[in-house]
Amino acid sequence: MTIKTATLNGVATIEIARPEKKNAITGAMYLQMAAALDAAKADGAARAVLLTGQPGIFTSGNDIEDFMQQRPAGEPPSIVFMRALMGCDKPVIAAVTGAAIGIGTTMLLHCDFVYVSDEARLAMPFVSLGLVPEFASSLIVPQLMGNARAAEKLLLGDPFTGADAVECGIANAVLPAGEVVNHARRIAERFNALPPGAVRESKTLMRRARAQLALETIKIESEIFGARLRTPEAQEAFSAFFQKRKPDFSKF
Ligand code: COA
Repeated sequence: MTIKTATLNGVATIEIARPEKKNAITGAMYLQMAAALDAAKADGAARAVLLTGQPGIFTSGNDIEDFMQQRPAGEPPSIVFMRALMGCDKPVIAAVTGAAIGIGTTMLLHCDFVYVSDEARLAMPFVSLGLVPEFASSLIVPQLMGNARAAEKLLLGDPFTGADAVECGIANAVLPAGEVVNHARRIAERFNALPPGAVRESKTLMRRARAQLALETIKIESEIFGARLRTPEAQEAFSAFFQKRKPDFSKF
């Protein structure tokens, strides 16, 4: 089982559970996560969603083997997932249990609360993979932290700590690794005592101004992203990852 779900005490938990591949997310896993988010949205017993990974790893991002395959026709599963995340009108609380790479960091930009383990490293190494930022990160990251710091993260792909993520406005707090999930769960459970309609409408209002622009940005990003997957630059980066060597971009 690669995505585990359970609803307990008002909290719908979605747990990424593919530790042998560092929680890399496949197309099937995106669709499972999207279905779990939609189910949580429709479930009156769920007042909030908790999104988490495994000890030491939140997710290593999109499965790079999937990146190497020809994209199937139709909407990519990652977009189905991100649309479900952005469309979830209940609070989504992320417990970042370890490394959060690529979409692992990007998805945090669309959560409401983010708690990061003190062992976690975040990174958006799209350029290093021959790709471009995705899911409105090219819009939201510069808005959050200014262009200078965004360039370190999006152009150089520099990894950053949970403390940096708090300072940049991506995360709420850093917690000891053993406490991050319980803390996030306690925050999620606080919504059991709050009026759900007011929470729902307030969340929607908080995102309203950015929503249209974010959707337009995602459309442009994903067209470029899809085209870039087939470039020799990206294919070199993917092959290098599986061959456990440094990519060679000198010929491009
Ligand atoms: N896609 C597919 N497989 C992945 C993966 C990914 N995103 N991340 C890790 N794996 C696989 C590795 O190929 C390896 O498989 P193997 O045991 O069959 O060789 C296994 O998971 C363990 O990964 P490994 O790299 O050996 O673990 P590590 O502890 O040394 O490093 C990471 C962990 C997360 C730092 C490293 O795996 C990594 O950088 N992953 C890729 C991150 C990335 O670029 N993601 C895409 C962003 S767009």
